[in-house]
This record gives sequence, structure tokens and C-alpha cells, in this order.
Amino acid sequence: MSLAGIQDRLRRWSPRFSPAWFKAILVAVVAAAFAVPLGVLALPYLELLNDMAVQPKGKAQGHYGWFQGEARIVERPPAAGSMPMGYYPYHLEGKDEATAKQAEASLANELPATLAAVEEGEKLFNYYCWTCHGREGYGNGPIVGPERFPAPPALHTDTARAFKDGRIFHIISRGQNKMPSYADKFTPHERWAIVHYVRALQRSQNPKPEDGEK
Ligand code: HEC
Repeated sequence: MSLAGIQDRLRRWSPRFSPAWFKAILVAVVAAAFAVPLGVLALPYLELLNDMAVQPKGKAQGHYGWFQGEARIVERPPAAGSMPMGYYPYHLEGKDEATAKQAEASLANELPATLAAVEEGEKLFNYYCWTCHGREGYGNGPIVGPERFPAPPALHTDTARAFKDGRIFHIISRGQNKMPSYADKFTPHERWAIVHYVRALQRSQNPKPEDGEK
């Protein structure tokens, strides 16, 4: 039915029909048809039962690289200063002798030598270190031997006993020769606890007279 036909019908239906009003209403209806969806878009996002489509989450990928002449979807570079989970910054990088000496000279055990600290260190040592170093630290753990992992020296040699705490902390953090780094396994707190335990282990094998006293 044409617009003129609709107008005819309305005129017959109501004597008060006016073509001007008809046009005004028509324009209002068309305008509303556009305005309502646009208005809805402008409203704050509201969705009932969204089945977790919208949830707080980190998005690993994003558009960037426009300046290389094309839009790519790639892994976003981490924000400046961000650190991987479980990573603890430690300023001495190398596992060479000079850096180990530097650690020895500059770091001191930050953790008071309490029984709790030694016990925490004992637990970690008997989980991570004993496989190579052995329970008592004689370098005879279950994974070392001929055609297996090279045996570490005992932790009771004069050399190892003369190491200052900072050097043991450094060896745990960076490794030494064949020994790998355990930096990603322990917080600095845990490393210092292990250092206390290594000290206790060393004294247990070479006690001083005063260690026998209470
Ligand atoms: C996979 C085997 C392995 C594990 C596990 C391991 N180490 Fe070692 N460690 C070694 C080896 C091998 C050496 C000797 C490296 C070398 O040749 O200088 C060593 C050396 C050391 C030294 C220096 C000894 C010296 O006289 O030079 C210390 C201290 C030490 N480890 C402590 C630890 C502690 C503490 C842990 C646990 C957090 C640990 N290690 C875990 C293999 C291991």
C-alpha cells in the first residue's frame, strides 16, 4: 500500500486527519527507529547472562606494528618494568669466579639465624639440593655417578667452609660450572634460609667445641 493510500484510509477513519501531522509522525517514527539503537549503543554495557563472554582477563595479544607498514596481531611486549611471576631481581649476573667473589664481598645473610630459618632451609635442601649433594652434603646424591651427573665436591672441604654466606647465595642464584641456577626456584628469603642450613650442615660435620654446649 502506498503512502497516499494510507493517508486516504486515515482520512476516512478520522475526520480530524491532517497531512501535516501525518508527515510529522512519520518523520518521528523513522527518527526513533535510528535514534533508539544509537542510544542503546551509547548506554553503559549491560548484559544479562553473558556466559562469561565478558570477564576480567589479561589479553596476551594485541594489534601493534602499524609503523612497520602493516597491522599485525602479535604478542604485546611487556610493559616497561614488568617482571615474570616468580622472578626476583638479583643484580649480579655472571656465574664466573670474579662475580662470585663480588657477591662474597658485598652480600651478607639478611635472614636472622633462627631455628625456623634453618628448618626452612633444611626442607628446601632436602628437596632440591640433596639429589646431587647428598643428605649430608658429601656430593653423593642419587643422581650423581659414572655416566650420570658429575658429582659435586663435598660441602665440607676447606674451600666450601671458607665461603662467605654471600658466595653460597650467589651459587644458588647463578649456579657454578655444571651446577645449574636455582634462581627461579627460590625467593631471596628462601635462598638465605638454605645458606643457613648449609652452614648448619657444615658445622654438623666439623663441629667446634662450643657447638656441643647448649
Ligand atoms: C643437578 C645437581 C646439583 C644440584 C641439584 C645442586 N647442585 Fe650444587 N653443585 C653441583 C655441582 C656439580 C657442583 C660443582 C660445580 C663445579 O664444578 O664448580 C656444585 C657446587 C656447589 C657449591 C660449591 C661447592 C664448592 O666447593 O665449589 C655449593 C655451595 C652448592 N653447590 C650448593 C648447592 C645448593 C645449596 C643447592 C640447592 C639449592 C645445590 N647446590 C643444588 C650440582 C648440583
